[in-house]
Amino acid sequence: MRIVMVGSGYVGLVSGACFSEFGVDVICVDKDSEKVAQLCDGKVPIFEPGLEKLVASNVEAGRLSFTTDLTSAVADADCVFIAVGTPSRRGDGHADLSYVWDAAAEIAAALKGHTVVVTKSTVPVGTGDRVEEIIRQARPDADVDVVSNPEFLREGSAINDFMRPDRVVIGTDSDRAREVLRQVYRPLYLIETPIVFTARRSAELIKYAANAFLATKITFINEMADLCEAVGADVQDVAKGMGLDGRIGNKFLHAGPGYGGSCFPKDTLALVRTAQEFGRPVRIVEAVVEVNDGRKKQMAQKVIEACGGTVEGRTIAILGLAFKPNTDDMRDAPSLDIVAKLQDSGATVRAYDPEAMGEARNLMKDVVWCKDPYDAVAGADAMVIVTEWNAFRALDLTRIKGLMKSPVMIDLRNIYHPEDAAAVGFRYSSIGRPSSL
Ligand SMILES: NC(=O)c1ccc[n+]([C@@H]2O[C@H](COP(=O)([O-])OP(=O)(O)OC[C@H]3O[C@@H](n4cnc5c(N)ncnc54)[C@H](O)[C@@H]3O)[C@@H](O)[C@H]2O)c1
Repeated sequence: MRIVMVGSGYVGLVSGACFSEFGVDVICVDKDSEKVAQLCDGKVPIFEPGLEKLVASNVEAGRLSFTTDLTSAVADADCVFIAVGTPSRRGDGHADLSYVWDAAAEIAAALKGHTVVVTKSTVPVGTGDRVEEIIRQARPDADVDVVSNPEFLREGSAINDFMRPDRVVIGTDSDRAREVLRQVYRPLYLIETPIVFTARRSAELIKYAANAFLATKITFINEMADLCEAVGADVQDVAKGMGLDGRIGNKFLHAGPGYGGSCFPKDTLALVRTAQEFGRPVRIVEAVVEVNDGRKKQMAQKVIEACGGTVEGRTIAILGLAFKPNTDDMRDAPSLDIVAKLQDSGATVRAYDPEAMGEARNLMKDVVWCKDPYDAVAGADAMVIVTEWNAFRALDLTRIKGLMKSPVMIDLRNIYHPEDAAAVGFRYSSIGRPSSL
């Protein structure tokens, strides 16, 4: 079995490395020659726990390699995965499928023998039909099946998610393609991972429906948190009490600054657009998108209020920039809105993130980049916890207080207890819990 991954970003690289760990020969293709050169040089261009080691051991075993040459890689492949980006299209929020169309055309030109082309990128309903059309028009002679196999891994725990997924979804009506995919996922089948075989369009929609549902759950608890603040309740207790109901579950009930990242924002928006196009608007998801967009800006306002109504001339320490811990991904991170609004309001921002500062430097201006949390809070009027990295969970609060100009903490991830912060003498504000500000 030979697999080719077209696109070696978060999904392509993790999936490629994991498939090679299963014992299959994998070639990861990317058109970014710098990325491929780094990978060939033994460097992993993204931060994902465990990935560097996994890549290195499979390269050494001769099962994993990298190239920019799609044509020769695809010629010998049994299975070609499309794992290119599908960002939001500027202006209308539809998924921008130009990378998928380009990849399909390039793959078509290179096909030899029976090949299963699998869309792993998150793509709107009907994309598989168009991929098939592109391939068949370019290569009427090609012996090809086009399958949808959406990916559900999460950055930060991507390898474990790929190796032990809750389920694998495979959308095709071809028996032959189903057999090839069964082989590809055999190691997961052996550990009794549920494998959902369905139609291609259903598989495409499952991914969007799942992401929209999770984004809705987050947004729901975020609004409950606002209500808790207004009525004097504690959202942590409300979430616990709700989550113990087996029908609800306790996951994704952590109130925070709003969802971000490379998936939820663009996928909720794309689902809204698809539904509108088909005349079946998904009004709950429309509300989720609107509420979440507003929330990120509202968080900066929360900081301003915690500083007595103005941050003009003040210094604010930001701990955490990535959209979540254990990743360096800054796409649609709440920190982007928060930092910009604080700077627009006259604040100087000092920031620290364990992994995302390299990427953040390309996206944020005039930030004072710091070497650790203690450096970040030096002389600050307030400290804001934006990302719940483990490294921020057990800070020496007494030392922090001593370094700050005034001891104000805005904990947007609820990682400290109000009483613990108060015991050290912090004025403390968090999400949906009693505040001492
Ligand atoms: N990042 C996640 O956590 C995640 C999880 C599940 C699904 N997805 C979906 O997977 C897809 C990929 O996401 P990502 O985060 O890996 O994107 P990414 O931007 O990190 O990687 C995409 C890669 O594809 C390459 N590429 C684009 N066109 C190419 C072509 N024609 N030939 C070769 N390489 C090409 C780019 O250079 C880039 O390296 C998206 O549809 C995304 O929604 C992402």
